[in-house]
Amino acid sequence: MSQTTVICFANNKGGSGKSTTCCNVGYSMATEGKRVLLIDGDMQMNLTLSYFDDETSLGFAKSGENLYTAIKEQRELTPYIRPTGYENLDLIPSSTLMSGIEFDLFTKWQREFILRQGLEKIRSQGSYDYILIDAPPTLGCWVINILCASDFLIIPVEASPWGLFGLANMFEFTEKVQKMAPGLRIMGTAVTKVNERKSYFRQTMENLESMDAQGTVPLFKTYIRVDSMIERSQDESMPVMAFKKTSRAAAEYLALAKEVMEYAHR
Ligand SMILES: Nc1ncnc2c1ncn2[C@@H]1O[C@H](COP(=O)(O)OP(=O)(O)O)[C@@H](O)[C@H]1O
Ligand SMILES: [Mg+2]
Repeated sequence: MSQTTVICFANNKGGSGKSTTCCNVGYSMATEGKRVLLIDGDMQMNLTLSYFDDETSLGFAKSGENLYTAIKEQRELTPYIRPTGYENLDLIPSSTLMSGIEFDLFTKWQREFILRQGLEKIRSQGSYDYILIDAPPTLGCWVINILCASDFLIIPVEASPWGLFGLANMFEFTEKVQKMAPGLRIMGTAVTKVNERKSYFRQTMENLESMDAQGTVPLFKTYIRVDSMIERSQDESMPVMAFKKTSRAAAEYLALAKEVMEYAHR
């Protein structure tokens, strides 16, 4: 029986590439023969929509076959797993009702650990090599749940003038959560939506490289450049590698996934 590694993608800044990175790193891992479970933790359902069309996704949201229902009712998560249609790759869908999750968690005993408990059986069965969780752009009790359920945190950072804004909050928040979840480690920051011609790309890299050099937060060597294939693939509810295997983004996400897998087993 193999061990399952749980990795979440979180950053309180919206639009930093969390859902895109979670979707495409997961797909790349699956193409490398790893068994992967994706979990959509965001009410915006972007990870669910990356694999299922609008109608199917809304069907999950309306029917109760989703993570929100499972968490609200403190259930074990196995019955909520859906096949994506791709080999080695399953997904637990989200719901638009996820917007009310903070309210639902408020009255629960040990409310920071509901997701971790829900995943216990899946982890102990060892049927997945990786579980990847997509977080919403918030820093509340639900994101604490996501961090407490994870072995590693990856922070996608957008290479934009405001990309680094608020990152200090994310680190502070993570440090606090680590007191509750001592097993949680920051795997690194991953730079996304890069345009190498823009000056702020260098600024972003230099900032993150200096954190890496100080040993505070590692930076992935692979960064993801802006590629129109990303949005086109999302429009078709497909990971970019399945949409266009020869695209630059597909190659970059595969390289990033390889770095992530190497790091996870260091
Ligand atoms: N490499 C990329 N090239 C072009 N567009 C991208 C790229 N990565 C993400 N995007 C787009 O940027 C937006 C935000 O990305 P997303 O992954 O949804 O961020 P988050 O989940 O952090 O809010 C989306 O519209 C997505 O299509
Ligand atoms: Mg998202």
